[in-house]
Amino acid sequence: MAKKRQLKLGALLHGVGGGTSMWRHPDAQPDASVNFELYKKWVRKAEEGKFDLIFIADGLYINEKSIPHFLNRFEPVTILSALAGISRHIGLVGTLSTSYSEPFTVARQFASLDMISGGRAGWNVVTSPLEGSALNYGKKEHPDHDKRYRIATEYLEVTRGLWDSWEDDAFVKDKETGVFFDPEKMHALNHEGEFFSVRGPLNIARSKQGHPVIFQAGASEVGKNYASKEADAVFTGHETLEEAAEFYKDVKFRAVSFGRNPDDVLIFPGIGPIIGTTPEEAERKYQEVARLVTIENALNYLGRFFEHHDFSQYPLDEPFPELGDLGKNSFQSGTDKIKKDAREKGLTLRQVALQSATPRGGFIGTPEQVADRIQAWYEGGAADGFMITAAVPNGLEDFVDRVVPLLQERGIYRTEYESDTLRGNLGLSVPENRYSKDKTVAAGP
Ligand SMILES: Cc1cc2nc3c(=O)[nH]c(=O)nc-3n(C[C@H](O)[C@H](O)[C@H](O)COP(=O)(O)O)c2cc1C
Repeated sequence: MAKKRQLKLGALLHGVGGGTSMWRHPDAQPDASVNFELYKKWVRKAEEGKFDLIFIADGLYINEKSIPHFLNRFEPVTILSALAGISRHIGLVGTLSTSYSEPFTVARQFASLDMISGGRAGWNVVTSPLEGSALNYGKKEHPDHDKRYRIATEYLEVTRGLWDSWEDDAFVKDKETGVFFDPEKMHALNHEGEFFSVRGPLNIARSKQGHPVIFQAGASEVGKNYASKEADAVFTGHETLEEAAEFYKDVKFRAVSFGRNPDDVLIFPGIGPIIGTTPEEAERKYQEVARLVTIENALNYLGRFFEHHDFSQYPLDEPFPELGDLGKNSFQSGTDKIKKDAREKGLTLRQVALQSATPRGGFIGTPEQVADRIQAWYEGGAADGFMITAAVPNGLEDFVDRVVPLLQERGIYRTEYESDTLRGNLGLSVPENRYSKDKTVAAGP
């Protein structure tokens, strides 16, 4: 009998919030982004809600216009490794850039996290949108958008190769004979490519989920191809069910064209549910945070997507300025969309800035209303799961206490973990070690 499809949930832990001003709310903890106790509390809450994973986003360049969370926050692999020790089932997914790191180091870091957590690690592979990152890594220039994806492709090939350095039964550890490992089951990679030269083997074995789960977050044409070909899961952002469904269909279609099963790439739109006992209470909670955002905050927030462009030079109530190619080498898919929406809807700069910095999303309402929307997106071919972020203080707690039970009652969401690995809970298979596989194939049936 086919297994029943179940909704997946991730918690995007964003300290003082992904916007400019939530830290000023009376119920917010302004040190949240570097408060380990709070992160522990959130992980426990997400695990109580049977979430598949927590997710830590990241970036490699800040300046005085960056939002508070970006100015002072934990490095993802470090915080996830610490959180591994206080959790048992939940997946631990962290962002790390392929444009500013070395595959040997990163393969080790995620393999270690995977081993420490007993098979719960995930890596959000990003190519780094921010030009300024180059300045922090001694590079003369930020590689262009498409080149960053070419680097990312070879990077992942190397990382996956390194993760297979040891076949699963390579470590014999026979105290009697003194044989620690079987050299036939240790494999050097000997990779020589356009961007990387890596010999291997890696100095750590595979965990029980084989490889960490690969997430991706990028939605340009090249980004979608990368996701469809390489990723186990995609983190994405959409305003409407229709838009999300189009993206969903597109990525699944591309996955099939790359010879994959469409169920092997899971789509997670990010949402920020705001829950009230009545719709009015939920709306009030939204307004409480939105009204803390000044227009100056909003212009800075918008500017970051366009290579930290200074939007204060334009009149606020005239049509959104013509920016040419600005943004193409940064958050390409996001900036293309902002420009297109502004043009098609005839928006002013003020409107665009406020919409970006205080997004309403469609998930504001009573627990039933929010559960209805989630179910509609899930059953309407727009999502396999959702990345939940706190758009207001205590947003995660509200969601777990008030919406999760409804999703469970409706039979679309688990009441118990199926597995103690991230792959197991997401319903993804364990990738076979390439060398063991070759031997099986060579030996025949
Ligand atoms: C929902 C979402 C989340 C993202 N999270 C991160 C992140 O945490 N760190 C990062 O460097 N880039 C992040 N990005 C940026 C992408 O990785 C990518 O660099 C950018 O979107 C440009 O690629 P694209 O034009 O293919 O979308 C995110 C993008 C999206 C759409």
